Amino acid sequence: KDKQAMSENQTVMPRALLVPVKGILLPDHIAKDLDAVSAFCPHPSDILIAAFPKSGSTWTAEIVDQLLHNGDVESCRRAPITVRTAFLEAINILPPICRKSSGLHQLKEMAPPRVIKTHLPIQMVPVGFWEKKCKTIYVARNAKDTVVSFYHFHHMNLASPEPGPWESFVHKFMHGELAWGYWHDHVKGFWEEQEKRDILYLFYEDMKENPRREVERIMKYLDLSLSDDDIGHIVELTTFKNMKENPMTNFSFFPPEIYNQSISKFMRKGEVGDWKNHFTPEQSAAFDEDYEKKMKQANIPFKTEL
Ligand code: A3P
Repeated sequence: KDKQAMSENQTVMPRALLVPVKGILLPDHIAKDLDAVSAFCPHPSDILIAAFPKSGSTWTAEIVDQLLHNGDVESCRRAPITVRTAFLEAINILPPICRKSSGLHQLKEMAPPRVIKTHLPIQMVPVGFWEKKCKTIYVARNAKDTVVSFYHFHHMNLASPEPGPWESFVHKFMHGELAWGYWHDHVKGFWEEQEKRDILYLFYEDMKENPRREVERIMKYLDLSLSDDDIGHIVELTTFKNMKENPMTNFSFFPPEIYNQSISKFMRKGEVGDWKNHFTPEQSAAFDEDYEKKMKQANIPFKTEL
């Protein structure tokens, strides 16, 4: 049934092709405008949230927006998360209710402090963010859960490239053949630069384990000071359950021709360890062997067993 729904919808929304740009693959529509993105001149008050796709960037963006508004429900429900925060490299393929225009145009209309999300690897982040010493939050998620989430996302996001079968999708993930390139290079790039660039490096698994602690870390990093009650309120508003029910964060505002949530929800499971329901023991062993080679030196403390 799902496959039938997918093929019916493919005629409505052409799926993106991947094109090589500066050593990584990007969806063709995003690659088109990348020179303008590179030249983007941020304001020092801009807050950048960077992440490989499906690592918890929407969750982090919601927390940051709520912190900036003291957890005021009305402010945070004023518009969809994609309007309250700008997706830097997004181009304009969506109707105005989802996103008024491209990320760059949207930014022109936003009042400071602006919250900006990007999936670009660190070497492609516009240099202005470093020159202006903008606050930068990176959120990383363990590789296996990321690839699972990305796989389901490719099915429901009819503008993304064809996912193909699970087996080959995992292979592509391991070899940097999916959009935004190697996950390994992405997480390592920001990890290695975190001190030099004063990046707050978060883990999705830590946010799941102790959301209050991580919300407080974000608050302090942003030089904000909220009351204990307001912090508690934000933790509550940004649980998976509440964000899944909130029409301003669950992407129900996206048309089904783009995000077909009858195939898979944007707020899908929100768990650590769902990879165990997808990987065969053989796939897991091959993945681990490859992972060890690419990640050993980096020593990034990912947790997969929460
Ligand atoms: P799953 O597909 O595993 O459920 P991004 O926003 O970077 O695209 O990441 C999306 C992933 O983060 C999805 O993972 C989504 O469900 C999960 N997510 C979003 N909000 C969350 C929350 N409040 N708590 C836990 N996970 C959340």
